[in-house]
Amino acid sequence: MCGIFAYMNYRVPRTRKEIFETLIKGLQRLEYRGYDSAGVAIDGNNNEVKERHIQLVKKRGNVKALDEELYKQDSMDLKVEFETHFGIAHTRWATHGVPSAVNSHPQRSDKGNEFVVIHNGIITNYKDLRKFLESKGYEFESETDTETIAKLIKYVFDNRETEDITFSTLVERVIQQLEGAFALVFKSIHYPGEAVATRRGSPLLIGVRSKYKLSTEQIPVLYRTRNIENVKNICKTRMKRLDSSTCLHAVGNKAVEFFFASDARYAIIEHTNRVIFLEDDDIAAVADGKLSIHRVKRLASDDPSRAIQTLQMELQQIMKGNFSAFMQKEIFEQPESVFNTMRGRVNFETNTVLLGGLKDHLKEIRRCRRLIVIGCGTSYHAAVATRQVLEELTELPVMVELASDFLDRNTPVFRDDVCFFISQSGETADTLLALRYCKDRRALTVGVTNTVGSSISRETDCGVHINAGPEIGVASTKAYTSQFISLVMFGLMMSEDRISLQNRRREIIHGLKSLPELIKEVLSLDEKIHDLALELYTQRSLLVMGRGYNYATCLEGALKIKEITYMHSEGILAGELKHGPLALIDKQMPVIMVIMKDPCFAKCQNALQQVTARQGRPIILCSKDDTESSKFAYKTIELPHTVDCLQGILSVIPLQLLSFHLAVLRGYDVDFPRNLAKSVTVE
Ligand code: F6R
Repeated sequence: MCGIFAYMNYRVPRTRKEIFETLIKGLQRLEYRGYDSAGVAIDGNNNEVKERHIQLVKKRGNVKALDEELYKQDSMDLKVEFETHFGIAHTRWATHGVPSAVNSHPQRSDKGNEFVVIHNGIITNYKDLRKFLESKGYEFESETDTETIAKLIKYVFDNRETEDITFSTLVERVIQQLEGAFALVFKSIHYPGEAVATRRGSPLLIGVRSKYKLSTEQIPVLYRTRNIENVKNICKTRMKRLDSSTCLHAVGNKAVEFFFASDARYAIIEHTNRVIFLEDDDIAAVADGKLSIHRVKRLASDDPSRAIQTLQMELQQIMKGNFSAFMQKEIFEQPESVFNTMRGRVNFETNTVLLGGLKDHLKEIRRCRRLIVIGCGTSYHAAVATRQVLEELTELPVMVELASDFLDRNTPVFRDDVCFFISQSGETADTLLALRYCKDRRALTVGVTNTVGSSISRETDCGVHINAGPEIGVASTKAYTSQFISLVMFGLMMSEDRISLQNRRREIIHGLKSLPELIKEVLSLDEKIHDLALELYTQRSLLVMGRGYNYATCLEGALKIKEITYMHSEGILAGELKHGPLALIDKQMPVIMVIMKDPCFAKCQNALQQVTARQGRPIILCSKDDTESSKFAYKTIELPHTVDCLQGILSVIPLQLLSFHLAVLRGYDVDFPRNLAKSVTVE
């Protein structure tokens, strides 16, 4: 939620126009994280850093609206060149305060813009801080929690004990007062050409680009020479001496650029693939073109340095190509993404599966009392979709849990439980909190994520990377099918030595092999699904019904429909039909039924009869050879047949396509549905 992007060019001359373009492009890449307002802070004066003036431009609406606004600023000469400059930018998903220019970021300390800050996360004690600062005479202009941070840093600065206090020391003092989650980047007129960034609970990375060789590949973390409990003492304690060996900079004339972002894959990759992932409570500072990282306290588990990592990723992976929306591109990528999830893991010759990230923990997992699979939204649906096959292959009880509800219930967790955390982004706050909850109870934790270096992948004991490639559309599509397959692969790995399950395993592995081709076949139905959307797009409601292996398809299909088309949609377990939902059925109500040739086929036929007996006109997703269901259907979408437990991968795709076409026909922005963000880093 909210995207942070900041750019420093140090001894790399850039015009103001180029700086704008870099900031705006960075925000556009992060727009999936929130898009109700946006803003930037840049040097307002012309070139002379010493003149010290920060210009803020903020606008309600998406990044495009901000971009247009920037070019309307008469006071800013676009051609003026800055040898060194630091600009910060933000795209917001409102949590505290309505979307508006004043509530958007950067937030400022005062009317003179002495300190400005961009923030991703939520400060939970902001009301107390605000009260305190108001009592000291600081006047607030927004309703945001972030403004307290901007005011607090000014308060610390105004009350500093020594004149030469560093920018990073100020930030260190500020974060000691903050509760909640944050990734922050600060800019100040008192520290021209300097940047400070820090995080706790929200992701933050720094990209580095220089044509010169960097002086180090590992940045040592500096600690205060003694721990500080009392914030007042902070200026009296000294940092381990900062010299060039403890900083990162380029050799030669030291020309270097730094990119700060909430997400490396989208915002940074087009500039550089060299990135540093900050850890919670790291304070990263750039002064004189040198980056240093420090922390207040040293914990026993601390890694003493931060490596500059090389991201393996291509820019084209994050471009839309010939598709009209990222979501559409991602739906059509599924033959490859599904293949990539299995690549190097499933051996179709020997019928074996090896998940490298789990192999060392397999014995322990086999001995566990039960599996708990936890996630939110689509990721939770992937758990629902695979529960039955996991129960069958692992012969263990499997609980599937929505992370928020799991926490609300204080669910009992034991040290012999194994807890799986399913998350595309790896940053979802509810899932992350559930992970920490299970860790505290000493359960073994397993991450299933699509984001290397994400909080969930780093904090779990072991895990599986689903390898679906970047997913940018807010509505999750290819991550779902890859999560699904990852969990099936886990079940197959667990059952390798079960004699009684060998035939079943072979059947499933054979099914996995043909999935990419079958997905292509389903995608070829796109035009037919578009025609169906033409019939349905003016409706207010759409029910999706099924049971057994395909219940999750109904939940997921209904979620896709509601989130991007804003139609009411419900995924209904067909077995529950007669216990209530049947009352909704009449001639007008559109109903989609998922009826596959699997053990629930006969029971689904009953539901079909109940619907048609009430004049319902079901649109049926069925198997190609199913002549029985089609007799009662208003319309059918015929799908290729695969193994029962994998059928959900094929049956969800028509619903992904349908939701896409419905949203386009209704005139909505598919990739940026209202009120939503891709990565939900707040509770
Ligand atoms: C729906 C969707 C969300 C996410 C949910 C969890 O299309 O994308 O429901 O699935 O917010 O996100 P992750 O998987 O990143 O934890």
